[in-house]
Amino acid sequence: MASSHHFLQLSISLFFLSSLLIPSTALGTARMTARMLYLVQQPATVLNYHNGPLLKGNLTVNIIWYGKFTTPQRAILIDFIQSVNLHMPAPSVSSWWSMTEKYKVGSTTLILGKQTFDDKYSMGKSLQINSLARMARRADHVNAINVIFTAQDVSVYDFCMNLCGTHDSVRASKQSKTKFPYIWVGNPELQCPGECAWPFAQPPYGPQTKPLVSPNGDVGIDGMIINLATVLADAVTNPYDNGFYQGPASAPLEAVSACTGIYGKGAYPGYPGELLLDKTTGASYNAAGIHGRKYLLPAMWNPKTSACTTLV
Ligand SMILES: *[C@@H]1O[C@H](CO)[C@@H](O)[C@H](O)[C@H]1NC(C)=O
Repeated sequence: MASSHHFLQLSISLFFLSSLLIPSTALGTARMTARMLYLVQQPATVLNYHNGPLLKGNLTVNIIWYGKFTTPQRAILIDFIQSVNLHMPAPSVSSWWSMTEKYKVGSTTLILGKQTFDDKYSMGKSLQINSLARMARRADHVNAINVIFTAQDVSVYDFCMNLCGTHDSVRASKQSKTKFPYIWVGNPELQCPGECAWPFAQPPYGPQTKPLVSPNGDVGIDGMIINLATVLADAVTNPYDNGFYQGPASAPLEAVSACTGIYGKGAYPGYPGELLLDKTTGASYNAAGIHGRKYLLPAMWNPKTSACTTLV
């Protein structure tokens, strides 16, 4: 199956990169460091366009909440999605998202669609690769991207080992000719905050800096925002493995995954870069959103300058 292939090879390749460059380093951190070293070696990172379709125009975001999330946790994630097209002065979630318009012509408008609540863990608490695709098929998929959020007590194949989240595409049924895109992001709070909620948690290995205070007071969910932002931008610019990416299609560097670990100017391995500081809470952030929210968003590769571009 194409989707599991993609998933697996991505992991293997990242593992290879990390073990090559930083022996015995946990992958979440290693991914970041490996990327940084890679960027240093090749300053002109170029994501090539492979002639396939991108996701432009109106795109409905259907959400599947798998496992228990509190109302405040859901609000942080929903507000992020609703901030994407709310035009606010930079640095904001919308000014960050507008960088995706530089990939071919046209903008992508995210419209919040249906939400499904599976708080009874209908597929169990240990999900395999195919469970995610099966779950994504349950929701509508016309002009849509289905987003699966798994709760902190759900383990997903390769979560924390090699992945913090992923995007892929899948056929709606065995008979259907077209594929629809979907995303999965897990809450890393209990399982691997150092890997998947950095810089809000201490990395288990590698260069150490003091964890930053997270802008919404929830390390796991603020980490999920970083990973959701990453796979969302990667999905709209490379939805079917033939959009913008560098490297092999099975293990691509994409719009944001090509810039892992970079959040502000002057970033280097272990240091996220210069960020804005919320004087009341002491939190670090770089983007404003709806309802006075603050978020930390990763750098995105800019096709016009061939460089990872930060908001601040
Ligand atoms: C997106 O939806 C809005 C509001 O329904 C509509 O005005 C607009 O024409 C749509 N855009 C596209 C590209 O379909």
